[in-house]
Amino acid sequence: MLEVRDVDVTYGDIQALWGVSFSVRKGEMVALVGSNGAGKSTVLRTLSGVQKPRKGTITVEGTRSDTVDAHKVVELGVSLVPEGRRLFRDMTILENLELGGYIGRARKVKEEHLEWVFQMFPVLKQRISQLAGTLSGGEQQMLAIARALMSDPKLLLVDELSLGLAPIIVKNIYKTLREINKSRNVTILVVEQNVRLALEVADRAYVIENGRITMEGAGKELLASEAIKSAYLAIG
Ligand SMILES: Nc1ncnc2c1ncn2[C@@H]1O[C@H](COP(=O)(O)OP(=O)(O)OP(=O)(O)O)[C@@H](O)[C@H]1O
Ligand SMILES: [Mg+2]
Repeated sequence: MLEVRDVDVTYGDIQALWGVSFSVRKGEMVALVGSNGAGKSTVLRTLSGVQKPRKGTITVEGTRSDTVDAHKVVELGVSLVPEGRRLFRDMTILENLELGGYIGRARKVKEEHLEWVFQMFPVLKQRISQLAGTLSGGEQQMLAIARALMSDPKLLLVDELSLGLAPIIVKNIYKTLREINKSRNVTILVVEQNVRLALEVADRAYVIENGRITMEGAGKELLASEAIKSAYLAIG
């Protein structure tokens, strides 16, 4: 459903992505892993339309998404959970969720969606009137995902969900993402610095190094590969 072909992205004189190509099939959960500064967030920002590629093409279910505005990309069914969550801290959970559902195709089904995200993340329902800025880190991450789901995405992009969270909380959120992936057939692309975790949860993964895709394979296959073990899974 997602085809990325030969994408270059530059920030001024600095080239961040070099000929990036990869694809995600409908219903898959795919991980993009790599170390600091490899270009992971740049890939997600480009997929969500906030960053425009200098070269290459991106198609979502056969429709070009790289040539349209970011809000049109949301209408195509692509929703980003950004790095650092970017919640409206002085607004309540409900207000954050309502803003997430404020687009054309999602608006009609807002009530149903609200029920669904509360079912996925019951703690958000219990705290519906609490200000986002006063939630714990894990709750904020759940709210960021829930807000993205309110736009009724076909493709959910999640940037570094594990950042700053305890392993047990991260595990639970990934479990919920899997459920969202399976039960509602939402295709998911996650970006992770925590390579082991990402390879354990994803169907397939791509490795990005210095702005280039260098490896791809099934999560379990990559976990067992020597190149991955020595570069990313070294046990110190
Ligand atoms: N707005 C920007 N202006 C200039 N350079 C940028 C900008 N954003 C990112 N870069 C550069 O592009 C490269 C890729 O950055 P990016 O944020 O995509 O990496 P990342 O893999 O997400 O890293 P991290 O794991 O630290 O989040 C880095 O060299 C970074 O310094
Ligand atoms: Mg990043």
